[in-house]
Amino acid sequence: MRELRVIDETESGDAVAEAVREGLLAYPKTLPPWLFYDEQGSALFEQITALPEYYLTRMERELLHRHGREIAAGRDEWRRMSVVELGAGSAQKTAWLLRALDAEGRGISYLPMDISATALREAEEQLGREFPQLRLRPVLTDFMRERPTLPIDAEAQRLLLWLGSSAGNFEMEDAVKILRDASAEMREGDLLLLGLDGAPEANGRETDKKISDLLRAYDDAAGVTAAFNRNLLKRMGRELGAEFCVEQFEHEARWNGRTSCVEMHLVSKIAQSVFVRELERSFDFQAGESIHTENSRKFTRDEARALVAAAGFSTVKSWHDPDGWYGLYLGQRV
Ligand code: AVJ
Repeated sequence: MRELRVIDETESGDAVAEAVREGLLAYPKTLPPWLFYDEQGSALFEQITALPEYYLTRMERELLHRHGREIAAGRDEWRRMSVVELGAGSAQKTAWLLRALDAEGRGISYLPMDISATALREAEEQLGREFPQLRLRPVLTDFMRERPTLPIDAEAQRLLLWLGSSAGNFEMEDAVKILRDASAEMREGDLLLLGLDGAPEANGRETDKKISDLLRAYDDAAGVTAAFNRNLLKRMGRELGAEFCVEQFEHEARWNGRTSCVEMHLVSKIAQSVFVRELERSFDFQAGESIHTENSRKFTRDEARALVAAAGFSTVKSWHDPDGWYGLYLGQRV
């Protein structure tokens, strides 16, 4: 297997130590969600996507499968298409879109970006087998700290993909910045496809989506999401010599109606002090004090279209599951 191209040259160990120091010194304590995705965390996230409660992946895959041809087809005279995907993971859902593009007879190059080398290798292996013609160029990068570079192919229409509601991990203005950076070199007619999870009962029509459904997706019966969240503590142990006792922290999913986010927390069950060797200091926790580890924003359709517009695209069309829980939004560069 060839070497993955690494854009981000910063020592990833230093970045982890720095993020942990900053996050645990903040009040309230918080850790950035990119820390979830070490090898174990990426494997746990793959498990999450197959959980019965985690409807996001299932619905998005279904929408890409059902509407892929329409998304891929009939847009202008371009013969080739360059697909660039932010946070591609193992790209299993994207395969549905690539299949549709392939069926349209368009030459495709595909540039999946992710911070997990394991996930990218899997993408490379599976897609390479199914699409021998595909020009595949995986990029190991953190697009939050490093601007993604788009391939220059004057004859190809570009399609920027950001699926899985991953934009919901960011503050709106940061999501806009990431999209604007990633699309800075895109031209009129180029495309953006965003997959965004919908807000409960706020889509301009009644949906049956309840906050309880949402919370179940982030606190599953099998405890996989809890393990995913707690893996942060284990990772700090492995990489920074942090002496967290994992059983002393509770996984919690909370709905924040003000920010329209599902929040994930690790709540300290007891008052404790945790030493982190690499940082040469300890951090104090009160009983009930939490580390806020993730925001997953849920979007009304108007908010989703506003995000597409703020990134410099006009919404061409959106597709939704029959119950209106999840949405794919297609924008075209203006
Ligand atoms: C990959 C960020 C979209 O927020 O739903 C899944 C991550 N966290 N379960 C999400 C996640 C807990 C996921 N994203």
